Amino acid sequence: MTTIAIIGAGPGLGAAVARRFGREGFAVALIARDQERTDALAAALGREGITARGFTADVRVPRALTDALHTAADALGPIEVLQYSPIPHRDFMRPVLETGPDDLTGPIEFSVYGPVTAVRAALPGMRELGRGTILFVNGGTAVVPHPERAGTSIAFAAQSAYGHLLHDTLAADGIHVTQLVIPGAIVPGHPRRDPAVLADTLWSLHSERHGFRHFADDLEA
Ligand SMILES: NC(=O)c1ccc[n+]([C@@H]2O[C@H](COP(=O)([O-])OP(=O)(O)OC[C@H]3O[C@@H](n4cnc5c(N)ncnc54)[C@H](OP(=O)(O)O)[C@@H]3O)[C@@H](O)[C@H]2O)c1
Repeated sequence: MTTIAIIGAGPGLGAAVARRFGREGFAVALIARDQERTDALAAALGREGITARGFTADVRVPRALTDALHTAADALGPIEVLQYSPIPHRDFMRPVLETGPDDLTGPIEFSVYGPVTAVRAALPGMRELGRGTILFVNGGTAVVPHPERAGTSIAFAAQSAYGHLLHDTLAADGIHVTQLVIPGAIVPGHPRRDPAVLADTLWSLHSERHGFRHFADDLEA
């Protein structure tokens, strides 16, 4: 059994992706800051027949994130799929003229250092396995910067560049790197932006393996 590690595993998209990949036979490593919540989600998935475990890490603490991924692989099996999708903090979304260098520390740690740390922790295992998928999930500001959300706009753009570089560099090794941009909000019941629909989209990106950037909905959503 191989593992999907979901970094930023909460009740919305994280839980839906856990169910979707769990149904396909993946073990699921749920990584977030609150151990009680990830344990509760793992228990709920377990009752549905999915092998899942919670692991604690703040993506802004590189050592903790690396340790969580290594511990998850030891406990559940090698990480074949890595999804980076923690929900950004509201403080990262300030108007551009009110955003100074210090205000960018959080967004950059969260959206750039975190993914780089996670990829470097998971990549050796994927290479050993001979295959892998890395899924980046972003909001629309990754593509169209928003003047009221400067931190996430700047940091998502940097994450997009990192992902695109990985996509081009790792393709020859059988490791597919892809980005799902979700314009607008995740809305239960929405035909394209419901969590379970988005999880189906992410499963397709993993299984069909073409191109880097994909959109969950029209950009003006
Ligand atoms: N929600 C939306 O409307 C929306 C819209 C467009 C794009 N997106 C994208 O969708 C993804 C999130 O999906 P979702 O909103 O449904 O969230 P979710 O999967 O329900 O939960 C995400 C989890 O991220 C965790 N998290 C936040 N900060 C973290 C940190 N510093 N370190 C580790 N974990 C952290 C939180 O758990 P803890 O508090 O326990 O750490 C939270 O439960 C993100 O990639 C986001 O960019 C969301």
